[in-house]
Amino acid sequence: MRIEQPVEMTHAAMLGLGVHRPERVVTNEEICEVLDSSDEWIQTRSGIRTRRFAGEDETLIGMSVSAARKALDAAGVDADQLGCVIVATSTHPEHTPASAPQVATALGSTAAALDISAGCAGFCHALNLAASMVRSGAETHVLVIGVEQLSRFMDPTDRGTAFIFADGAGAVVVGPSDAPGIGPTAWGSDGSQAHVITQTPSCMGTRAHTDADHPVVQMEGTAVFRWAPFAMAKVAHQALELAGVGLDDLDAFVPHQANLRITQTLAKNIGLPESVAIGTDVVDSGNTSAASVPLAIEAMLRKEEAAVGDTALLIAFGAGLSYAGQVVTLPPLG
Ligand code: UT7
Repeated sequence: MRIEQPVEMTHAAMLGLGVHRPERVVTNEEICEVLDSSDEWIQTRSGIRTRRFAGEDETLIGMSVSAARKALDAAGVDADQLGCVIVATSTHPEHTPASAPQVATALGSTAAALDISAGCAGFCHALNLAASMVRSGAETHVLVIGVEQLSRFMDPTDRGTAFIFADGAGAVVVGPSDAPGIGPTAWGSDGSQAHVITQTPSCMGTRAHTDADHPVVQMEGTAVFRWAPFAMAKVAHQALELAGVGLDDLDAFVPHQANLRITQTLAKNIGLPESVAIGTDVVDSGNTSAASVPLAIEAMLRKEEAAVGDTALLIAFGAGLSYAGQVVTLPPLG
């Protein structure tokens, strides 16, 4: 018995992008009402001026649906054309059920739907999975969402995380294209550094659950800082080589918005020409983990720092440790 499989390879691209930024803007001053820190320290060490926290009526699923509707609109694709919905997140409150089936249903889709967990690198991982599905002919259209509600998973008195993390969602529709719009992905992991970014306590420790046990994200920020700007420069060059794109061919660089200083050091280590526009949405939006790359793309398009059709290098890294990067063509905005 021969198992049938699609053999016709096609090109894949991001056909449309949508985001959801929560309404409530939170200043450093507000963070420092609880945190032993200062606006000056936060800006100097991270570049962050403001971030957004979701309100009571802005759930992780609601933010995902809101971003997804705009992405579908921008792509001119109906929800019933979707073959798969992938949600990249670390802050869906339940391991079971996953968030993606609920997102798909809210959109009016019965597509296969799954969550993936690759920390702040989740969006770039999901983008690779989606592009591979479309290229192989397994699916025609795949919805990719990066979404986080980190404000629910933070200790507001933790000096290592409380000023960094934030909420938001970004979605793209990946579909067929005349030319390649998503390059091959350079990706990998280093589980020996699993302890660097964690959820504490783990689910195993919370059977007798009290409010005091509520899981929060903890991070050895300095360890990430020592690793990312150097390790990710190599990944950037791998992604460029895989795509056959030179540094001078790039219009934009959109790294995970971890910290403005990491972005600046990484850009220098990659050797980016000055002509390349750099995503700096962390200044306004904080670090939104899996949502940060699509949010940063949206900010660059909206502010006309980059344009639809531009060639951009994406790089994301975080808990795992996990990382992924690829060269893409920037999509239209919903
Ligand atoms: O997105 C997933 C991946 N995550 C990241 O990429 C985050 C990467 N790491 C970072 O962004 C940075 O490590 C932080 C912004 C988290 C911290 O910056 P840092 O330059 O690594 O600070 P540090 O932890 O080395 O602390 C420097 C000093 C210390 O004081 P002394 O010992 O020099 O006197 C800390 O006690 O700053 C002090 N400090 C603070 N002061 C005010 C540490 N945290 C704070 C704080 N407010 N929140």
